[in-house]
Amino acid sequence: MWQCPICQSPFNPLVEHTASWQCAEQHRFDVAKQGYVNLLPVQFKNSLDPGDNKAMVQSREAFLNAGFYAPLVQAIASDIQSHAALDSNSVVFDAGCGEGYYLRALQALLTQFDSDCHQASNDAGDIDIRFCGNDIAKNAVLRAARQNQVLQGNQTHVVASSFALPLQDESIDVLLQIFAPVSQAEVFRVLKPSGTWYQVVPNDNHLIEFKRHLYQSVNAHQPSPEDGLAVRELTVSYTISPNQIQREQLLSMTPYAHAANAEKRQRCIQDDSPLSIDFKIYVYQQSQMKEA
Ligand SMILES: C[S@@+](CC[C@H](N)C(=O)[O-])C[C@H]1O[C@@H](n2cnc3c(N)ncnc32)[C@H](O)[C@@H]1O
Ligand SMILES: [Zn+2]
Repeated sequence: MWQCPICQSPFNPLVEHTASWQCAEQHRFDVAKQGYVNLLPVQFKNSLDPGDNKAMVQSREAFLNAGFYAPLVQAIASDIQSHAALDSNSVVFDAGCGEGYYLRALQALLTQFDSDCHQASNDAGDIDIRFCGNDIAKNAVLRAARQNQVLQGNQTHVVASSFALPLQDESIDVLLQIFAPVSQAEVFRVLKPSGTWYQVVPNDNHLIEFKRHLYQSVNAHQPSPEDGLAVRELTVSYTISPNQIQREQLLSMTPYAHAANAEKRQRCIQDDSPLSIDFKIYVYQQSQMKEA
C-alpha cells in the first residue's frame, strides 16, 4: 500500500515490520523510536516546521482524549458498518490525522462492532482492518505513534503531505478527512474503486458561542460538499459542558486562537454555558465520483 515519496516505487508489503523503509531505488526512511516514519523529504517541505504547532497539538490531544467528540466518531463508525464492505485486506487511512484520536477511537469502535457481529453469528473469523494515517506536522505524528505504542496498537503513522500521499494507487478502502486539507486528486488516486471518503467539516452552529464572544458579527457558515458529489450527508449536533481548562484547550486547537485577544479569550473560557457542537459529514463513493 505504501510507496516511496521520492521515486513512487512501491514499498515491500512487509516494510512496516522493518526498522528502515527502503525502496527498490535505495531511498531509505528510518522508523523513529516512537514508531512513526518520516516520509516527508526535506526538499518537499515548504517550511521548517509545517502543520499545527506543538501547543495546538497538545491541546487537541488533551481535549479529544476527554471524549467530547466521541459522537462524531460513533457516527462515522456506524456509517462504515452500514455501508462499507470491509475485509481483512481493508485499510482505513486518516489524512491529516493529527495526534491520532480518530484512528484510535475508530479502531476501538470497529473492532467492537466486529466482535459483536461475530458473537451474534457465532463466526470465529477475524477481520483485521489496518488503521494508518499521515500528517505534515512531525510533532503530531510523533504523539499519534507514541499513544499507539502505549496502547500496544498496530497502527502506522507517517509524516507526509496530504497533497502527495505516499500511498499506491487504489490502495485505500476508507479515507478520513477530518478538519484537515487534502488534494481531491490524491483522494481519487489512492481510493480503491469500492472506496469511501469521509469528509468532516464544521457546520453552521459549531462553537457559535465562542464566535459570539470573538467576532462583532457572526455569519452562518454553510458548508457544501465537493462538486455536489456526496452520496450521503450526515449531521452530528449536540452540546458539551467542558470545564475552564478544557475550554482553553478547545480554543487553542481551533483557528479562533489566532483571532482572539486576551480579553476575548477570557470571555470564552469563563462563560460556563454549554457549547454547541455541530458537524457535517460528507460521504463520497469512489465508484460514483468516477462516473460523475
Ligand atoms: C485542525 S487539525 C485536525 C487534525 C485531526 N484530523 C483532528 O481532527 O484531530 C488539521 C491538521 O492538518 C494538518 N495539515 C495541515 N496541512 C497539511 C498537509 N498539507 N498535509 C497533511 N496534513 C496537514 C495539520 O498539521 C493538523 O494536524
Ligand atoms: Zn524511492
